[in-house]
Amino acid sequence: MSIALVILAAGKGTRMQSDLPKVLHEIAGAPMLVHTMVAGQSLDPERCIIIAGHGADSVRDVVQNHNSDAEFILQTEQLGTGHAVDQARDTLAGFIGNVIVLYGDSPLIQAETLKTLNASLSHSAVTVLGFEAKDPGRYGRLITNDDNLKRIVEFKDASDAEKSMNLCNSGVMAVAAPLLFELLSEIDNENASGEYYLTDIVAKAVAHGAVCKVVRCTESETLGVNSRVDLAQAEYEFQSQRRAEALKNGVTMPAPETVHFSYDTYIGRDAIVEQNVVFGPGVTVESGARIRAFSHLEGAHVSRGCVVGPYARLRPGAELAEDVKIGNFVEIKASLLAEGAKVNHLSYIGDATIGARANIGAGTVTCNYDGVMKHHTSIGEDAFIGSNTMLVAPVSVGQEAMTASGSVIVRDVPAGDLAIGRAKQENKTWLAVKLMKKLRAIKDAKKG
Ligand code: UD1
Ligand code: MG
Repeated sequence: MSIALVILAAGKGTRMQSDLPKVLHEIAGAPMLVHTMVAGQSLDPERCIIIAGHGADSVRDVVQNHNSDAEFILQTEQLGTGHAVDQARDTLAGFIGNVIVLYGDSPLIQAETLKTLNASLSHSAVTVLGFEAKDPGRYGRLITNDDNLKRIVEFKDASDAEKSMNLCNSGVMAVAAPLLFELLSEIDNENASGEYYLTDIVAKAVAHGAVCKVVRCTESETLGVNSRVDLAQAEYEFQSQRRAEALKNGVTMPAPETVHFSYDTYIGRDAIVEQNVVFGPGVTVESGARIRAFSHLEGAHVSRGCVVGPYARLRPGAELAEDVKIGNFVEIKASLLAEGAKVNHLSYIGDATIGARANIGAGTVTCNYDGVMKHHTSIGEDAFIGSNTMLVAPVSVGQEAMTASGSVIVRDVPAGDLAIGRAKQENKTWLAVKLMKKLRAIKDAKKG
């Protein structure tokens, strides 16, 4: 059965206290909405429909950037979750598969749960994802009878007896498309909120004699983000899951609680990630590499046998081949470092290619920016760059060439040459001692 995702993302999110639409607030470097889309994509849906309202233009940009096939529908007035889903009626006319309704502000939903939910439609007309809440608060309550779901009652409309139940509605739901739109045309807004409740379709289906079911998940999985406190909580949950997953997959982390992952971080087996490492988006670390303490990586690829840090920064486009060594206070951006190259101390390497086994001395800087444009630096295999060399790009240093420390290199260095680009040293006999004597005399004269 083909699947259409309908993701609700029109709400304002007043309690976020933000100019940014709620669903674009990030968890682990990706907007919440993208997390939901990724989870939904695990069902291999034929359609992915986003219902947007507040901040629709920026929501559209993010959605289409992530998945150009996603469809976007504007809900100009937010009249309730039922009204929101109904916006997809025309787009899905003729679609006979299953619809999975998701919330753009529930980023922790798991692929496995969605699979179970969808599979349950083989013996249920409408299946709702529910959870036992520690504190059911203002969630809608699932009213069941034995194994069957009878109806959903919203907190505002619930009796005291119903409020005391703690099987709650996550909001996620599965139902065949034709039935969904048939049931939606039967609901009204005569309730405490004056809204069209999606949840009302359950009672309507039951009234037609259909069987409805609940699939259960953990409370943390359905965490809905309404405030910055919830956002921090969702981040915490996400990080805890990723750390546990990495440990399970064979990554060594002596202090996992200090390591921060992005939604797409990939770390191979037997890699070691030391304390206080931060992974921004787009990082892959291959098996056996070691990321030392206090390093920050983003958009970077680290191959087998590399050692990065402590205190290193890899920025987007840092591509390290096998056995590269990056040491403390080194920044690498948009640069390719071939096998065995070393940049061990206090350097900036940007827009460069560094040949295999080249050694970049402490304090070396690729001067890649002239104030208007960026330029490339190329360093050959087995080259030796002396400490504190300024490489004024565009410039190249050939294979096995050297630069003298303290040089400012403005012209290409041919293979095998030694380039010296600094003022010649002169030694003035005993001038240091004479100078000090003179200065002390001046100071004494002032005191007297
Ligand atoms: C909803 C459920 C409730 C459930 C809870 C779980 C209904 C009637 N109630 O309540 O049973 O326990 O979620 O979190 O469905 N949205 C739109 N357009 C609208 C209205 C809402 O896109 O017109 C979106 C919101 O942005 C949000 C989601 O739908 O992402 C849920 O809406 P919200 O107003 O938060 O519903 P709740 O009152 O929390
Ligand atoms: Mg809500």
